[in-house]
Amino acid sequence: MLTKILRIDEVHKNETAIREAGEIIKAGGLVAFPTETVYGLGGDALNPASSRKIYEAKGRPSDNPLIVHITDMEALPAIVKSVPETGKKLADAFWPGPLTMIMEKSALVPKETTGGLDTVAVRMPSDAVALAFIRAAGGYVAAPSANRSGRPSPTRAAYVAQDMDGRIEMILDGGDATLGLESTIVDLTVEPPVILRPGFITGEMLRQKLGRVEEDRTLFSDDSGQAPKAPGMKYRHYAPKGELVIVKGAAEAVTDYINVQLAGERRNHKKTGVIATDETIAGYRADVPRSVGKRVDAAAAAKGLYRILREFDDEGVELIYSESFDGEGVSQAVMNRLLKAAGHKVINV
Ligand code: TXA
Ligand code: MG
Repeated sequence: MLTKILRIDEVHKNETAIREAGEIIKAGGLVAFPTETVYGLGGDALNPASSRKIYEAKGRPSDNPLIVHITDMEALPAIVKSVPETGKKLADAFWPGPLTMIMEKSALVPKETTGGLDTVAVRMPSDAVALAFIRAAGGYVAAPSANRSGRPSPTRAAYVAQDMDGRIEMILDGGDATLGLESTIVDLTVEPPVILRPGFITGEMLRQKLGRVEEDRTLFSDDSGQAPKAPGMKYRHYAPKGELVIVKGAAEAVTDYINVQLAGERRNHKKTGVIATDETIAGYRADVPRSVGKRVDAAAAAKGLYRILREFDDEGVELIYSESFDGEGVSQAVMNRLLKAAGHKVINV
């Protein structure tokens, strides 16, 4: 299959491209599209054959449910049993935006889309191209992140093409994703609601609207012995090809430890990478040093992390050391993805 890549600058100037993309979805095909978080791999959420195609293109197990993307609140009642009060409150506050809510599904949503579950994940993205595309596609677009299973989520069209060229009909290129990390997922089918994946909409922000909100205990540790509630969180995700190790401790001790390791790896002729911050990056002697930005700027780290992981792959880096990102809010989302990419390999110094 030939994958067509169309650059979209301003939605109103690209009506034909958006319309063409929408027609592909209506005909049961797949289109990758930009959102404010990461690029999505879209298909018709109400067509079981489309969802099967998504799993195939991604190389993803079909028990891993997809997020249904909508453009307005009027679209919601048809795909859920009922809209919970909590859902209305959160939609008022955070939609359109980087928040996904789990609700009981209606009969309209095929089990192929929800990985066999009776619940459905719904998100209303804020990206203008995403909204125009979903509208043109009929209003319900199922989309996981547009990476091959196990690769970092793509934050730009070129990364989608690396993973999906020849596997899907079209890629809409809307430039770099503004946030760079996937949406927060909150399960509203339980009381109190539970955060299944941390993101830019933080636990604190959700608590301000709903009161009590809990966190899935498996998010930051791999030793709780529990299966994560979001089926996708159990797979080793976001993995770079090289081995990734997180080093935790006081700044200077971390730099010293990593440099000793790097020297050893050099003797073994291994190509090394480092993930650090503007404050510390100059102190590392790695083949491929990368800063995620200023240490206080968790949003910059979120935006840059997946790009950096892909750059290590492109450079053939075999071993990567990363500083740790501890803190509240968006830092938690960054650390959660980093821990998954590292397969929870953490060294305390
Ligand atoms: O920001 C995002 O959410 C991006 C953009 C494209 O919207 N999408 C995304 O999709 O990250 P994906 O498929 O890569 O991650 C969705 C996660 C998976 O871990 C999946 O298991 C979980 O959401 N999920 C989906 N439906 C669920 C459900 N009904 N119950 C529990 N978890 C669910
Ligand atoms: Mg994903």
